[in-house]
Amino acid sequence: MAKRFYYAGSILSADLMDLGRDIDAALQAKMDIIHFDVMDYHFVQNLTFGPGLLKAVRSRFPDAIIDVHLMVDPINEKIITDYAQAGASMISFHPEATPHVDRYLSLIRELGCKAGLALNPGTPPQLLRYLWDRLDFVLVMTVNPGFGGQKMIPATLTKVADVQALARESNVIIDIEVDGGVAPSTIAACAQAGANIFVVGSALFGQKDYEVALAELNYALKEKA
Ligand code: DX5
Ligand code: ZN
Repeated sequence: MAKRFYYAGSILSADLMDLGRDIDAALQAKMDIIHFDVMDYHFVQNLTFGPGLLKAVRSRFPDAIIDVHLMVDPINEKIITDYAQAGASMISFHPEATPHVDRYLSLIRELGCKAGLALNPGTPPQLLRYLWDRLDFVLVMTVNPGFGGQKMIPATLTKVADVQALARESNVIIDIEVDGGVAPSTIAACAQAGANIFVVGSALFGQKDYEVALAELNYALKEKA
């Protein structure tokens, strides 16, 4: 069964003084998911969005799918619970941030969200074998996390293919999200490797016309993938 393609717009590249306007325009242009990056100045050298902002985004866009990517170390029950209660639909975290990966994936589902694990470029994917029944999606970082607008690291596409192969070996169909450097020039290779959720920061919110930006991504996806 073919997986559906989704665009997850990363608000890191939006105009923060006009965030509501930018998200609204992107949803009108048929962005599927709001990607909400949480950074703590510890796991990565940047600081972003707390649960208060998430709550505000949720109340303005009650029907949106909101994908919370926690680049936070350590991960704990309070952080996950705060973002789930503030309105997340999907939550992912990085396995380096806790010895309790299995427990926190379960907690995310108990709180009514889809659970995902995020893998840095240097993080091997083998642990996924033991976690399939806890996972709704896998986020493969295609740049080192921390900032938007970076160039995709080519070797990370091998990781996407490895995740896809590991899932197939276990007869699992899972959503694979790629995050970092997704653009018209890279999206087809991501899809060929097995990705079906595309985080787009600068390739969407960095562009003047979101409809044109998504049309260019779609064209690249359909023509070359
Ligand atoms: C990077 C973040 C990404 C980032 C992607 O650490 O996790 O979500 O916003 O930005 P682009 O699409 O510009 O690479
Ligand atoms: Zn992200």
